[in-house]
Amino acid sequence: MNQDAMKQQVAAAALQQIPDDIVLGVGTGSTVNALIKLMCEQRKRLTACVSSSEASSALLRAGGYEVLDLNTAGDLSLYVDGADECDPNRCLIKGGGGALTREKIIAAASKRFICIIDASKQVPVLGTFPLPVEVIPMARSYVARELLKLGGEPMWRENFTTDNGNQILDLGRLQIHDPMALEDTINSIAGVVTVGLFAHRAADQVLVASADGVVEL
Ligand code: 5RP
Repeated sequence: MNQDAMKQQVAAAALQQIPDDIVLGVGTGSTVNALIKLMCEQRKRLTACVSSSEASSALLRAGGYEVLDLNTAGDLSLYVDGADECDPNRCLIKGGGGALTREKIIAAASKRFICIIDASKQVPVLGTFPLPVEVIPMARSYVARELLKLGGEPMWRENFTTDNGNQILDLGRLQIHDPMALEDTINSIAGVVTVGLFAHRAADQVLVASADGVVEL
């Protein structure tokens, strides 16, 4: 089974876990796009959505869903999103699509966070996927120098601006044995908006698609 088919499968499994008539937190990326497509096709009944990116908001609106600002919606009962890597403790690397800051905010404001991935995203130790760090533009070089001191290799994601008007450094060559400590360390560098490590607020539930079907981690 190819990766796209696995994304479809895990999106279908997630859809079954979403109650009707809630305000749903919706993430960003191709796996979430598969979920949005299914929601639209099956006319999933929702009160509204809160989304982590302009791209997801556009798809949701095109499908007839109301997209609320988080300030209006308040806390959410459920957030569904993908990830770039997931370790055995459900800690995640996110932000491959550049939406990490809004994703982290929605995850924090949600009672339950279901992460949907295919088996290629499961790793024993986070860090093979370069860790995204959203930075204020004027701080980019300073933050890159600080990240170098941590032993990683920061790369500027050129020609990319986040929905918040910021830039991204992707930090490669890491083996993240203590995700909570690294999340704290990177978040405390001046100029960092967010690091795409979801350790303090890990996923509550991870649905993993493989050739054998969907299982819960
Ligand atoms: C976007 C994200 C995505 O969840 C992550 O990149 C996974 O994307 P995909 O489902 O396309 O593999 O964090 O910022």
